[in-house]
Amino acid sequence: MSEALVRRAVMTGIGRYLPERVVSNDEMATMVDTSDAWITERSGIKQRHFAAAHETASFMAAAAARGALAAAGVAAAAVDAIIVATSTPDTAFPATAVHVQAMIGAKKAFGFDLAAACSGFVYAVSVADAMIRAGQVACVLVIGSEVYSRILNFTDRGTCVLFGDGAGAILLEARDVTRDGAGVLSTHLHADGTLAEMLYVDGAVGLPEKSGKLVMNGREVFRNAVTLLASAVKEALDANGLTSDDISWLVPHQANRRIIDAVSKKLGFSADRVVITVDRHANTSAASIPLAMWEAWHDGRMRPGQLVLLEALGGGLTWGSVLLRI
Ligand code: UT7
Repeated sequence: MSEALVRRAVMTGIGRYLPERVVSNDEMATMVDTSDAWITERSGIKQRHFAAAHETASFMAAAAARGALAAAGVAAAAVDAIIVATSTPDTAFPATAVHVQAMIGAKKAFGFDLAAACSGFVYAVSVADAMIRAGQVACVLVIGSEVYSRILNFTDRGTCVLFGDGAGAILLEARDVTRDGAGVLSTHLHADGTLAEMLYVDGAVGLPEKSGKLVMNGREVFRNAVTLLASAVKEALDANGLTSDDISWLVPHQANRRIIDAVSKKLGFSADRVVITVDRHANTSAASIPLAMWEAWHDGRMRPGQLVLLEALGGGLTWGSVLLRI
């Protein structure tokens, strides 16, 4: 008797966009009272990309989406839905996803934005996975695209040195596979709005009298991040009857090298199984995980058949994980 098939959301392509301008720690030190030594030691960041005026969230998302479609060999016309995880949309509405739909010519796709700060990509994959398994859609672009340089307070050295701009996109397609086949295996999402004041943007179009800049209590976020991310990873492993030894790649949200190291150590992931881009991209919020996956895929580390665990935490607080087989 042949094995039963299950419907899964399978990653068939990945793309990215990074702004042309690279800003070193030394250049940041010309803007605020900081140093390459402090930024490197406290965060692991050496440089970040900052967007030019034309490099908006939709511009970068569309470029990353085109890359994902080309890698998958799928035409834009075949896309059913576009989900853009972003906290820095071009316009309050239409959604960034709708701008992207027009830019890439995905005529039949519907689209919407998802705001979960640095957890946005994990949240967006979870939504796309649910829609695919429900049979509502078969081909979804999931994109993280952020221009945090537009919301940074360049007089606050405790935050402005930590973030960068960029976009990453994956194409998820419905496939009927055997149990050990490819696809998203689990997603776990969490939020605690009572911790909102730890990391937020002060105002937006709804509160025009506020600055609209990022505010963070870094020490408190750090403390919560290690505990909550470790529990999110453990939750994903337990739900799938796995241990950290079964995972080929941990792809963490890239906020701080010290957070990444503390979480992987706590869970027994050796450094050679953790994908790191924070040194070159800094924290690109919802874009950081697909940007890191892009790199591990393109340099040949990540290969078909491997189990990959994504985890993120950000403003909200929001946090969560995705386990998938590539
Ligand atoms: O995506 C999720 C969101 N973000 C995060 O996950 C970030 C979480 N937090 C962190 O990454 C870290 O807390 C930071 C990197 C933000 C800060 O590291 P820290 O080891 O917690 O430093 P601190 O905030 O305790 O500051 C230590 C000192 C302070 O000086 P005093 O009070 O000890 O004299 C700061 O004023 O470092 C000073 N400082 C700086 N010095 C040079 C803060 N920012 C800077 C800077 N350059 N850029």
